[in-house]
Amino acid sequence: MIFPQRFCITGTDTDIGKTVVAALLTKGLGASYFKPIQSGTDQGSDTDTVRHLTGLPQDHFIPPVYTFKAPLSPHLAAEQEQVHIDLSRITLPSQAGPPASRSHLVVEGAGGLMVPLNDRELMIDLIGQLALPVILVAANRLGTINQTLLSLQALALRSIPVIGVILNLGRDDNNARAIAHFGKVPILAQIPRLDPLSPSALATGFNRFFGD
Ligand SMILES: Nc1ncnc2c1ncn2[C@@H]1O[C@H](COP(=O)(O)OP(=O)(O)OP(=O)(O)O)[C@@H](O)[C@H]1O
Ligand SMILES: [Mg+2]
Repeated sequence: MIFPQRFCITGTDTDIGKTVVAALLTKGLGASYFKPIQSGTDQGSDTDTVRHLTGLPQDHFIPPVYTFKAPLSPHLAAEQEQVHIDLSRITLPSQAGPPASRSHLVVEGAGGLMVPLNDRELMIDLIGQLALPVILVAANRLGTINQTLLSLQALALRSIPVIGVILNLGRDDNNARAIAHFGKVPILAQIPRLDPLSPSALATGFNRFFGD
């Protein structure tokens, strides 16, 4: 499959595998990775996880614009540190000149689409502002159809283009069929629970899941 040059990985929820999918795609595409807002740095960062899983050099990683210690929704984590998240400060690197001239950029959102960033704006507003098409990641389990269709509806309401859905943590062809049918989107892949989740599993994962 051919991926657009720049896209955003979002999800139906927190903890459903956005970072793992972002790592798979960053590695497979030799992309740059950018997580603009990171909460929960007390417990590590997604950028460090992607760096570890991909083994790509430091210059593939654009540092977050906002980091917060507490593992909370960004609006709360920011409030605890008396910070206001200002969306106008979050911009993509220019496409001119290295390393930003690298062919692909993978941007990872925080949590799900309707996560507040301040008292006025949500994650989905940031995605709209960055003008990136999205890949929506969902955990493949009971309830996934509902969560995925609601997320797709929110994206459609704001005219944010959707590249497709990735179902993570298992295979369920009934979920895949229903989401493709009602959501009118391609299912790009169904990714199993990788055990172990290791750099070598990641290195072969792109061809395994996205090779034609
Ligand atoms: N396909 C997979 N195989 C094995 N483990 C996985 C897989 N997908 C996700 N995980 C594990 O599930 C947990 C949550 O995944 P991940 O951190 O990618 O979620 P997330 O959606 O990025 O969360 P956040 O909203 O905090 O950014 C992690 O411990 C991760 O290692
Ligand atoms: Mg993540």
